Amino acid sequence: MQILTITRPDDWHLHVRDGAALKAVVPFSARQMGRALIMPNLKPPVTTVAAAMAYRERILAALPANSHFQPLMTLYLTDQSTPALIREAKAAGIIACKLYPAGATTNSSSGVSDLWALLPVLETMAELGLPLLVHGEVTHSEIDIFDREAVFIDELLQPLLQRLPSLKLVFEHITTAEAARLVAEAGENIAATVTPQHLLYNRNALLVGGMQPHHYCLPVLKRESHRQALLQAVSGKQAHKFFLGTDSAPHAQTSKESACGCAGIFSAFAAIELYAEAFEEAGALDKLQAFAAENGPLFYGLTPNTDKITLVKSNRTIPPYFSYGHERLIPLRANGTIGWTMLE
Ligand code: NCD
Ligand code: ZN
Repeated sequence: MQILTITRPDDWHLHVRDGAALKAVVPFSARQMGRALIMPNLKPPVTTVAAAMAYRERILAALPANSHFQPLMTLYLTDQSTPALIREAKAAGIIACKLYPAGATTNSSSGVSDLWALLPVLETMAELGLPLLVHGEVTHSEIDIFDREAVFIDELLQPLLQRLPSLKLVFEHITTAEAARLVAEAGENIAATVTPQHLLYNRNALLVGGMQPHHYCLPVLKRESHRQALLQAVSGKQAHKFFLGTDSAPHAQTSKESACGCAGIFSAFAAIELYAEAFEEAGALDKLQAFAAENGPLFYGLTPNTDKITLVKSNRTIPPYFSYGHERLIPLRANGTIGWTMLE
């Protein structure tokens, strides 16, 4: 049987929610990951250092006994964020700040409405070396949803990088050949996270044979040529600029299977197995450890985890649902199998 032992991974883009939902999902990440960068799009969003520190305590309290999992905290930028807030965040150990264009995705209504009005904040981040995490999609209603990432690159990202060439920036959950190319060609201060769903599925998985709400996330799945470009990016010459960020984004079954279903795919229960499947398809299992456990720490100036995990190539059966407070949470590949299994 094929066995793969790698350094314990980290998840550089994770939604763990709050309250009963937090208690239901965070043990899955704690089992696989050493650390995770926690997304701040709660209701209300995590916009202050005090809110981030309190959220961190709630996450720690929801961990299984003896867990070594470390939540790393982010702040949610709004039109009201100030340079003083950025200095306070850096001093308090906040790892990065998140830019949601207003209206781009789940709980982003308090996001940034004018990137250029935020320039003093972004200049302070560049000065302090605090990374900006970008949900890279424009939100104008006239732009086709499948084009929103590529248009964001031309309209906002390129001008921003020209204006602030030293800003550390993570292009989050990239989905297109255009994004992969931009990151590969940019300086070492630019990196990207890639989700398991964008490596494993194209938009047919969303729309063929009936609408598949559990394959709906933002940015939305793209056509096959883009998926191929992402597989190439994570395994190619510039692979060190791409790292693991699941964007595992749980929503209750009732919120997903609805006339207006929420965006978000829950993958944290089997994140590393899903990535192993994708890297196997790319013929690049030898690159999985760097993607999952080395490139992220390198970008953030941290050291990789010291312990290891072991994956075996044997089918893991996925249950139909997990409990989620009083609701149910449908995982990616519910009732199906994944070709790899992480051992305890
Ligand atoms: C995320 C969520 O549900 O919080 N949803 C998603 O589809 N990815 C928000 C996000 O990261 O865009
Ligand atoms: Zn996300």
